[in-house]
Amino acid sequence: MSETPFDLIVIGSGPGGYVAAIRAAQLGLKTACVEKYPILGGTCLNVGCIPSKALLDSSEHFAHARRGLAAHGVQVQGVELDLATMMSRKLQVVRDLTRGVEGLFRKHKIERVTGTARLVSASEIEVSGEGAPRRLGARHLLIATGSKPASLPGIAFDGRRIVHSTDALTLPEVPARLLVVGAGAIGLELGSVWHRLGSEVTVLEYLDRIVPGADAGSAKLLHRSLERQGLKFRFGVSARGARVVGDEVQVDVARAAGGDIVTETTDVLLVAVGRRPYTEGLGAAELGVRFDVRGRIEVDAHFQTSVPGIYAIGDVIAGPMLAHKAEEEGVACVERLAGVAGHVNYDTIPNVVYTWPELAGVGITEEQARERGIAVKVGTFPFLANGRAKAMAEKDGQVKILADASTDRVLGAHIVGPRASDLIAELAVAMELGASAEDLARSVHAHPTLPEAVKEAALAVAGRAIHI
Ligand code: FAD
Ligand code: NAI
Repeated sequence: MSETPFDLIVIGSGPGGYVAAIRAAQLGLKTACVEKYPILGGTCLNVGCIPSKALLDSSEHFAHARRGLAAHGVQVQGVELDLATMMSRKLQVVRDLTRGVEGLFRKHKIERVTGTARLVSASEIEVSGEGAPRRLGARHLLIATGSKPASLPGIAFDGRRIVHSTDALTLPEVPARLLVVGAGAIGLELGSVWHRLGSEVTVLEYLDRIVPGADAGSAKLLHRSLERQGLKFRFGVSARGARVVGDEVQVDVARAAGGDIVTETTDVLLVAVGRRPYTEGLGAAELGVRFDVRGRIEVDAHFQTSVPGIYAIGDVIAGPMLAHKAEEEGVACVERLAGVAGHVNYDTIPNVVYTWPELAGVGITEEQARERGIAVKVGTFPFLANGRAKAMAEKDGQVKILADASTDRVLGAHIVGPRASDLIAELAVAMELGASAEDLARSVHAHPTLPEAVKEAALAVAGRAIHI
């Protein structure tokens, strides 16, 4: 027999789960959140977005002190790395934020349950952890169990030399050589961190470009910029096997097109070839919850699975594996359960790679416009011609805006450059509000600021940029 039923039990406390739980509690639902780890926050807060950004910021300071300050007339001698302090600062950032989530749960009277949840029926779960298993019942169950790093056949993670992103956030020392498989967000962000700290980094990518899915021209600009910084890239290759031999890793590298396998050595091998949805031991399939061919839980437009009463959001369902996507889905899902009209606009979800320069995009790319037969006008503006970027000594990158050729409505925007992650917000809001390029072009932007490059790109859509 289960304990007093809840209105909603959320399984998983990542950005999808914990945000859904808070919103549900705000809406008056009696809510519990089950998390198998003793710390809340899921992948994003513990081993994803937050620790990676803490290391990206710290390593950027280090690289800037070593190479960037002299151009500003600041002479610094004897810059040294204190990796232990860098790592403990990262841990403190994580600790502050995960404790913040604990505080929010208390504030909203969300029952926090520590243990691993297994679905027993459409309205009941069993939680196992320390002590005897507990049964909890609810009117609605929400699966927000996230994802785990994908591996490659023939390559077993050992946590020290053959690693995934979680281990790459805590390497005990800077490896002399780091071989990264996969030129996606993780490969480029963590590759950048260790390169800035002193590793010789080579990225192997199966395809012929970095960040597949991002606007091709923008990805090319980022690629060139990273190469200038010293990261090395090899395309059309993959790792077929790897083993630790002494203090080294031997990696079998093969061309995607076939041919001989060449064995190379490195100190650490980071496999960053994507993530897979995580549902192990959840008991969802046994209850009849349907999965797609990639192991993602299938949901309808309101996040309900094939079993009425059971819902799913975030990395465990289809769509980009992003924290803000998981959050928006969590909110929309529980709002509907509470009788409020929740909705996610998948056309305006920004995607950012936090390298330096950063790569950020929202909406369609030029390639997608061509594929879909949508006629677009394109306006671009380089940071080289932006006063604030010049003052900051930032030369790389551009803003690109795609507007519908007949209506002028903004359909996509792609930025490579300083703080592209912050700049893309203006474009996402513009798209959400159905703005035209002309609307952006006529909006007053403070001078001198980086967002003026957005305004100029919007002007360029109509061929009337001022500063180029
Ligand atoms: P998760 O965050 O994975 O949380 C799922 C939770 O469910 C986990 O805590 C897990 O322990 C728990 N759980 C699983 N099964 C059970 C069970 N049976 N019982 C109880 N609990 C269970 N995204 C961005 O938007 N921006 C970024 O900058 C970014 N950087 C990233 C950097 C790295 C290195 C990585 C790995 C990912 C990054 N991501 C980023 C992706 C982001 O972390 C995920 O998209 C996001 O965490 C997904 O949220 P979620 O709530 O769906 O799942
Ligand atoms: P990814 O899907 O972003 O990139 C994987 C890369 O590996 C692709 O370029 C792919 O072509 C390549 N690849 C796949 N198989 C390969 C093989 N056998 N050999 C060589 N290359 C191969 O996955 P990644 O970087 O692991 O990230 C996982 C998820 O986490 C992503 O979906 C991403 O959205 C999310 N994430 C988001 C971040 C952000 O928003 N800044 C940061 C880090 C992760």
